Amino acid sequence: MRKQIAAANWKMNLSLQQGEQLINDLLAKPHELKAHQMAIFAVPAPYLMMAQNKLSNKQHVGVAAQNCYSKKSGAYTGEISVEMLNSLGVQYVVLGHSERREYFNESNQFLAEKLDICLQHQITPIFCCGEPLQIREAGTQNAFVAAQLAESLFHLNAADIVKLVIAYEPIWAIGTGKTASSEQAQEMHAFIRSQLAHQYGQDTANQVSILYGGSVKANNAVELFSQPDVDGGLVGGASLIADEFAAIINALK
Ligand code: 13P
Repeated sequence: MRKQIAAANWKMNLSLQQGEQLINDLLAKPHELKAHQMAIFAVPAPYLMMAQNKLSNKQHVGVAAQNCYSKKSGAYTGEISVEMLNSLGVQYVVLGHSERREYFNESNQFLAEKLDICLQHQITPIFCCGEPLQIREAGTQNAFVAAQLAESLFHLNAADIVKLVIAYEPIWAIGTGKTASSEQAQEMHAFIRSQLAHQYGQDTANQVSILYGGSVKANNAVELFSQPDVDGGLVGGASLIADEFAAIINALK
């Protein structure tokens, strides 16, 4: 079975102490991660070490950075390199979140460079894609997402593409409380998988976990995750509340 993943994206929230407390609270809750399931915590960069210290000895749990830079090292003040993540033992990084695309002008081409350096350093990218509201309203979301995939991912070979996690996050559903319906999510996830199949073959496409993100909550996670091509969620707001995120972990297939 494909990996089923509940990934928390804390974004730019919480103090160190609050983050530590949240992890403590979650660890104290009953949650059972099966061999094909994972929980990943994308925490703010200053908290990566704390999260690693608390979680690196836990089975089926990973820590992710929320971003990294495309260069190995050098005079890039304020940036985070993959070698720094390697040195902390961090194995995942969220790339291409719509907030980074929008506020920091990250292009599909720039993201392709970031993907390459992550894969060269054994870091698993959680690659985000998804359309804004006006594209959804125009009905051209498939072409929009296909271009994001083609321009950022399709230079990779099949051996590398299976190392990725893809997160489909329709921008109109992020932080709005307006979740995509499970049919809308399934439709787009199946489309993304068909694009992967077209490029790499069905067997390869079947191995890639595709997460849904956008107002995932405890009360809609079971329904969303029950869809055949939805392999878990990338969760913002609800990942900041221990009870909510614990329930979302338990909603994994
Ligand atoms: P919300 O769950 O707050 O809508 O955020 C989704 C998201 O952007 C996760 O990366």
